[in-house]
Amino acid sequence: MYTGNELRSMFLKFFESKGHKMLPSASLIPKDDPTLLLTVAGMVPFKPYFQRRVEPPFPRATTAQKCVRTPDLEVVGKTARHHTFFEMLGNFSFGDYFKEGAITWAWEYVTQVLKLPAEKLWVSVYPEDDEARTLWTEKAGVNPERIVNDETNFWAAGPTGPCGPCSEIYVDLGESRGCGSPDCGVGCDCDRFLEIWNLVFMQYNRDEEGNLTPLPKQNIDTGMGLERIASVIQGVESNFDTDLFRPLIDKVAEIAGVSYKETPKNDLALKVIADHARAVSFMLGDGIRPDNEGRGYVLRRILRRAVRYARLLGIEKPFLETVFKVIQANYAHHYPELKENENFIVNHLRLEEKNFQATLEQGTQMLQEKVRGLVEKGEKVLSGADAFYLYETYGFPVELTEEILAEQGLKVDMPSFEEAAAEHRRQAKEKSQQMRAVNESPALTEKAKTLGATPFIGYGELKAEARIEGLFAGGEEVKDAGEGEEVLCFLSQTPFYAESGGQVSDSGVIKSARAEGKVIEVKKGVTGTVYHRILVTQGVLHSGEAVEAIVDTTDRQATARHHSATHLLQSALRSVLGAHVQQAGSLVTPERLRFDFTHFSPLTAEELENVEKEINQAVLANYCVDIKEMSLEEAKADGATALFGEKYGDVVRVVRMEDYSKELCGGTHVRATGEIGLVKILSEGGIGAGLRRIEAVAGLESLNWMRALDDQLETTAGLLKAHPQDVPKRVIGLLAQMKDLEREVQQLQARLAKSEVDSLLSKVTEVGGVQLLAAQVHAPDMEGLRQMADLVRDRLKQGVLVLGAVAEGKVNWVSAVTPSGLSGLHAGQIIKEVAKITGGGGGGRPDMAQAGGKDPAKLGEALDQVPAIVRKFIRS
Ligand code: ALA
Repeated sequence: MYTGNELRSMFLKFFESKGHKMLPSASLIPKDDPTLLLTVAGMVPFKPYFQRRVEPPFPRATTAQKCVRTPDLEVVGKTARHHTFFEMLGNFSFGDYFKEGAITWAWEYVTQVLKLPAEKLWVSVYPEDDEARTLWTEKAGVNPERIVNDETNFWAAGPTGPCGPCSEIYVDLGESRGCGSPDCGVGCDCDRFLEIWNLVFMQYNRDEEGNLTPLPKQNIDTGMGLERIASVIQGVESNFDTDLFRPLIDKVAEIAGVSYKETPKNDLALKVIADHARAVSFMLGDGIRPDNEGRGYVLRRILRRAVRYARLLGIEKPFLETVFKVIQANYAHHYPELKENENFIVNHLRLEEKNFQATLEQGTQMLQEKVRGLVEKGEKVLSGADAFYLYETYGFPVELTEEILAEQGLKVDMPSFEEAAAEHRRQAKEKSQQMRAVNESPALTEKAKTLGATPFIGYGELKAEARIEGLFAGGEEVKDAGEGEEVLCFLSQTPFYAESGGQVSDSGVIKSARAEGKVIEVKKGVTGTVYHRILVTQGVLHSGEAVEAIVDTTDRQATARHHSATHLLQSALRSVLGAHVQQAGSLVTPERLRFDFTHFSPLTAEELENVEKEINQAVLANYCVDIKEMSLEEAKADGATALFGEKYGDVVRVVRMEDYSKELCGGTHVRATGEIGLVKILSEGGIGAGLRRIEAVAGLESLNWMRALDDQLETTAGLLKAHPQDVPKRVIGLLAQMKDLEREVQQLQARLAKSEVDSLLSKVTEVGGVQLLAAQVHAPDMEGLRQMADLVRDRLKQGVLVLGAVAEGKVNWVSAVTPSGLSGLHAGQIIKEVAKITGGGGGGRPDMAQAGGKDPAKLGEALDQVPAIVRKFIRS
């Protein structure tokens, strides 16, 4: 019996022996492919070869490819064979062998290497594909009775792109696994006939309208799910029982304190968690970051689903890191990114889990309340707005909400949810500045393909003789471009750096004998062809003519300073904060640098100071900047810091600043760090969970920054009539003076209030043996009036107080009785009667009450009435 690891390498070795280039898995993030969010099949990395957008460097290849598919998310764990993450074994031909080679090798592998008995195997073909049917019987020797037609045997990786009819190999797992129906056979939904291999005869390209056009060459794409074949060879009930999954399931069961295969409910949760933990580990391993949209959202959704299922097993503490360690132990030998990016993976697992655990409880509570509300009203549908609120506020993926509701027979109003989500996305998009993509058109793509990669000579030369190889306006090729026109221009070679790796493109001019164009933007396409977007500023540029391409050296040097400073910054951050710091994005321009990195708390002032100091020490040390090209393997062995996305086999550039920094980088740099000049950090802040951003300037921009600071100081000194060096002293003096003045103002205000109260107290009269003060005062509002009443009451000590004030055309009244209950008087009752005279009402407590009135003209009359009113209430 073979292990999963053995089955993976057996497959690759078999096809290597048949002349296939064995390649490592590509990233789960499809490269240069806007049509796909994730790598969903083994053929995805080879799409440019199938479509001949890029000439294939070898005619055959074989891989074990990491794949993620989520359309079947809900059935994962419920069937024996569905997964989010899986490994797909495949052999590929790029215009080399076709149906015969694919069919005979597949049959040889299945029957002679894996030794599956032919009497248990079945084959399905596309009904119109007689050629395949004949090859299966005549070349592979399959019993014709074992070949069935299947209308669905047509395969494509997405709505558009390369596709074609396919043939599948099935294993009959025996009657005991079947549904027992008389119609049960290949294609039946039950577990008896298991598809193990799909051979796609890729011969068409499908465009956006669904039209099929023959591909330039016929290709082969095959896919065998490693987990499925392992379940067959290991003779187990489901993929989850293979050695690819059991260690994970056992670990989760151990954490939860349950046993696998005890209850179906627990088993479902264990399988879902094992599956999802693999998906999130591998996705993080490829640098996908949890996010609220795109592939980051797929990751977040899977991770959160795992956490929710863990709760069903009673796991309340973070656990994914422990499961990841098991995955790492089982897979890192073949997928080294699980080891190399361990910090990134673990940090994100911890953070996401912690955040989600906290919100899950609140969100669940809110959802339960909503469910109760719906059930009480006899309704069955949760509004899209509510579902979106849960998503936005509590991070509840809508699919999770749907699942929780489904448990009670309820649903989400999906159209209105989609509306709310679309509106949200629209707003988010408006906020984020979109990169201007190269305006692709079929003619442009064709031209780029014909031209191939544009030689870049700009690492050494900033000026070059070149020929215009093509001009494009609005996606169409044009012969010439006149003054004022903006066109895309291809050159025979270029000194212009095309935007990449965070470094913006060079600026400059293209000059012919009589014309000139300004280079606005430079980009590189998948074919390596460099697109220069230029604005013709003088004369007419002609296709085919000789030009001089001149890079703006001032900008280029300023950019190089910021790029080299970025490398120093990364090393300094690692040295001050720790090795967990990883680059998460960067922007390098002539004016400044921006560097995003992983770190979990704001930098302290001391840390920032140390980072800045280290960078500037490295500048002053004037390290030589040494740049070498080598293979990725050599570079990694040499300890260079790599980003996500480089592929094995790629030739990379290693930029070294003596022993201080070593990074893979295609950008342009200074010759020695001393050229960078002063590096000044301008800001540091958080930009997302576990992500920080630093902005800094270097070289002449640091001088500009200092000059601006100097100007501000000069202006301030001028205003203070002081020398710049005396500014702090003067400000300290001014602040002290201000404090003194404030104190004085307060004292004066208190004195004023006291004298007003004094004069009020002189108006105290006596009614029935009770002291009474009824007076009109000035107070801007009710609050002011109450404060004054407090002051007067404190001085009066015993008696009744009624104060009225006019504010904003109305009357405010306050009354107080002190001590409370004096002679049976009640401030609320008194004020009610008084306020009534001014056309209002109010009331309050026995000791203090307030009221309002509408008629200021009646205020005097009301005050006159106070003695009589008080007398009426006095209890003798
Ligand atoms: N690309 C084919 C599949 O994924 C082989 O099934």
